[in-house]
Amino acid sequence: MSTAETLEPPITLDETRERMRVRLAGIVPEFEIDLKAEIAHRINTLKREMNAVILGHNYMEPALYHSVPDFTGDSLQLSAISAETTADIIVFCGVWFMGETAKVLSPQKMVLVPSDKAGCSLASGVSAADVRLLKTRYPDAPVVTYVNTYAEVKAESDYCCTSGNAGKVLSHLFALGHKRIIFLPDEYLARNSAAEIGAAYLSAGDPIDAVPMDKPAVIGWNARCEVHELFKPSDVDAIRKQYPDAVILAHPECSPEVIAKVDISGSTKVMSDYVENTDAPRYALLTECSMGDNLAGQFPHREMVRACGLRCKHMNEITLEDTLEALEQRKYQVELRPEIIARAKQPIDRMLAIR
Ligand code: 13P
Ligand code: SF4
Repeated sequence: MSTAETLEPPITLDETRERMRVRLAGIVPEFEIDLKAEIAHRINTLKREMNAVILGHNYMEPALYHSVPDFTGDSLQLSAISAETTADIIVFCGVWFMGETAKVLSPQKMVLVPSDKAGCSLASGVSAADVRLLKTRYPDAPVVTYVNTYAEVKAESDYCCTSGNAGKVLSHLFALGHKRIIFLPDEYLARNSAAEIGAAYLSAGDPIDAVPMDKPAVIGWNARCEVHELFKPSDVDAIRKQYPDAVILAHPECSPEVIAKVDISGSTKVMSDYVENTDAPRYALLTECSMGDNLAGQFPHREMVRACGLRCKHMNEITLEDTLEALEQRKYQVELRPEIIARAKQPIDRMLAIR
């Protein structure tokens, strides 16, 4: 399976156990696999009975990732799938803002996120009122909002983007003649994307002409990913010292100083595709720890450096047990006001059109 393809979850308990033993060998002990396989089997059975589809973000824990999702992928891929699915129920094994995006794209469907505690420091780092304030401060600048935001913030925006297409969305708007673009809420993604396309960076609050007005500039906000901001340039040095032959990949939510030192920067899909398609002696990922484990299970011929110190507590809220309960009890349902759905849809549709 490569990301965002149908995994075809196995039908019988024996098949489920076998699939998990193959994918999780050396990652999860066998006795635990056997216990988890029973839960996964119950989820897959219930899912078929209820005509539900399970979407699993690349950061899901390995036992879940390799057993119950019909599709796995990054935020952009899973958003696109939630817009197209014919299932009656979408179970989003990811964080809450991802469930909200699915609800905006498929408002007539029931959307479940297996935990109501699966937040995100970026999504909680900016409010709709903040966006309105910025719009009064920079009235001519379009607002691009990272998909890691809640729907009320998206509703105030012109475009959404993910880490997979942030540079493309910014380039599209600069090509339309805009010289200033507000980009929310991730300071580091804003700085990294601006650098990628040769634009200047301004902090919200800077005068609009802090750089000459004919030079394109991105106006950023001050939120950060509480996981990726912890990686340091010295971590990259330490990996290089110990594994000089490793290709080091990092998510663009890391600081520009880290990104400057790594070999590849990209969304979780970019990292996954790289490991799948590019031969290297080994790979080190600076991102949520489960992702390295998931790729090790998916591509056993690849040597992953397991840098597993940093975990996203929000993503780790989602477990197989919670996913079973979500289906059994139809919880936690994502509900959004129709007015918010209507206003958030256009920027999300625009994001899906620029891929
Ligand atoms: P992707 O969009 O790359 O899947 O990342 C989502 C995320 O939350 C990264 O921290
Ligand atoms: Fe949010 Fe960071 Fe967790 Fe991604 S890793 S969900 S950006 S807190």
